[in-house]
Amino acid sequence: MSENYNALLEAARLAREQSYSPYSKFRVGAALLCVDGEVITGANVENASFGLSICAERSAVVRAVAQGHQEFKAIAICADGTRPTPPCGACRQVLLEFGPTMDVIMGGELGAAGEILQTTVLDLVPHAFLDFPGGRTPRDGTEPS
Ligand code: THU
Repeated sequence: MSENYNALLEAARLAREQSYSPYSKFRVGAALLCVDGEVITGANVENASFGLSICAERSAVVRAVAQGHQEFKAIAICADGTRPTPPCGACRQVLLEFGPTMDVIMGGELGAAGEILQTTVLDLVPHAFLDFPGGRTPRDGTEPS
């Protein structure tokens, strides 16, 4: 990892324990690092109507925005299994809205003790759809003024 995100990964690993995933039995936790230093976590929440399930990453974003945070420095994701889990396409698009340049740190159930991948949201979304008129994020991914 190019920065020390061990504590953020640990928050994501612990958040995974709050997952409600009786259908997939695949628990995922996410931890968002806000620009003011606060950490907001989320976990995946599934539904008997499968399409209504929400991923851990979007759960964290929704929770953070509801608590007054809209700018993020990084997100850590820890899922069951030893391999790092990258965010799905829907989560990538939602992350773009609030932090195209944010770091994305992916781990497995071992957290910082296991295999880790690190990238940025922009690197996860080539040719990203960013600059909707009136939207907050310019095409080049710079943060809004
Ligand atoms: N899931 C996440 O929470 N985040 C991801 O990045 C990938 C998938 C969840 C959705 C569903 O509850 C379960 O993992 C299986 O797809």
